[in-house]
Amino acid sequence: MEQKQLRTLIETAAAQRQLSYAPYSGYRVGAALLAADGRIFTGCNVENAAYAPSICAERTAIAKAVSEGVHSFSAICVVGGFTDESDDYSTPCGFCRQTLREFCSPGFQIIVAKNTADYKTFTLDQLLPESFGPENLRMKAPGKK
Ligand code: THU
Repeated sequence: MEQKQLRTLIETAAAQRQLSYAPYSGYRVGAALLAADGRIFTGCNVENAAYAPSICAERTAIAKAVSEGVHSFSAICVVGGFTDESDDYSTPCGFCRQTLREFCSPGFQIIVAKNTADYKTFTLDQLLPESFGPENLRMKAPGKK
């Protein structure tokens, strides 16, 4: 990915993090999901008093995109942590990795950033090796088009 586009993704995820609703954990996360058509879909974590209904930033972004009819993606950037100054490398949780697996290819890029100068890049296949996905259910299932 070009440096300019990478910078935009990191800045977009960081800006989105400001909208995180995380009153229980205090761990605020923002995501910027780059679609194949160049559009960027954002997401933040949205926690819940009953805890279990909470959703991560990555799945919020995927749900926003899919609900707009977009199913093809090339990268996601995640910015998260407790403080603005010394943020974590916020790697996607297992649920989010599997959700990305539904729509993204093995080479899909996952960028976990502290800021525009400090980040790590992985492929989906690195974070979810030997995974189970839509191809495993290739047979005509009832209700499948
Ligand atoms: N969280 C995310 O949104 N994405 C991640 O990659 C890791 C964890 C959220 C879930 C919860 O609201 C908070 O961070 C602490 O786990």
